[in-house]
Amino acid sequence: MKIISVYNNKGGVGKTTISINLAACLDYRRYSVLVVDMDDQSNSSRFFTIYMDQDRITNTLEDAIMGNEDINNCIYQVPVKKKRQIGTKKEIVNSRISILPNNRHLKDVLQNYTHDSDDIKILHKLMNNLNNDYDVAIIDCTPQMNTETELALYSSDYVIVPVLADVFSLDGWEGVYNNVKEIQEKGNESLKIIGVVMNSFNGNTSQDNDLAMKFMEIFDDILFETVIRNSTVVRQSNTCGIPLIYYKPKEKATLDFVEYQCRMR
Ligand SMILES: Nc1ncnc2c1ncn2[C@@H]1O[C@H](COP(=O)(O)OP(=O)(O)O)[C@@H](O)[C@H]1O
Ligand SMILES: [Mg+2]
Repeated sequence: MKIISVYNNKGGVGKTTISINLAACLDYRRYSVLVVDMDDQSNSSRFFTIYMDQDRITNTLEDAIMGNEDINNCIYQVPVKKKRQIGTKKEIVNSRISILPNNRHLKDVLQNYTHDSDDIKILHKLMNNLNNDYDVAIIDCTPQMNTETELALYSSDYVIVPVLADVFSLDGWEGVYNNVKEIQEKGNESLKIIGVVMNSFNGNTSQDNDLAMKFMEIFDDILFETVIRNSTVVRQSNTCGIPLIYYKPKEKATLDFVEYQCRMR
């Protein structure tokens, strides 16, 4: 199993959207994937549990981290709404995606966390106790370098950094890079940034293209060639809890995600 953190110090750059749709593209291609919601805003938890009986979701990441529950009892298989065949109506069926949900209290649980001890290994150890052999785990991170992010990065093999296609995105980049370096120094030496992905790209004006050129200059070979286009369909898909690949498979933004997932291998 490869573990990928989707991380940037900034909020609203598409961490959750990318976590969700990467997971769905992997599901579509018959890979099994675990999404770990490390952000106490619980956006990916809400997205993936929309079509679930809410009373069933009794255990969360907090229970696993506190040691109150086996991590395997805190994971839920995600039902998705999709067409089984072309031309048929959408129905709710089980996917190969599982979610380890957050419940907004993780911060309180981690208040006694000490930065110098074995605490940084908490999530890493839990991930080693998974019964299921997932192909990929995706950690949807918080927009800060806090305890949750330290645990996520320490347990990861790779980091994906979504950046908004906007010139202000370039400011926060150094912080992200330094945070990854810090985690390498704390013991996860093999942690690797596999790529910066430009999200919400318009591409209609020469200014957009100048910006893309600037991103290429700055990020060089770690910038994914695929950019994710800005599209209202992305917002609609997030709102109704249906990943793009099952919501509007032929949309340009959907195809961006498909291409992006293929390039990651
Ligand atoms: N490519 C896109 N096109 C249009 N809207 C997008 C796109 N990517 C993200 N969004 C919207 O931007 C907002 C922030 O995205 P989100 O994934 O929640 O960011 P983060 O997790 O980094 O805070 C959401 O409302 C989402 O629907
Ligand atoms: Mg988010």
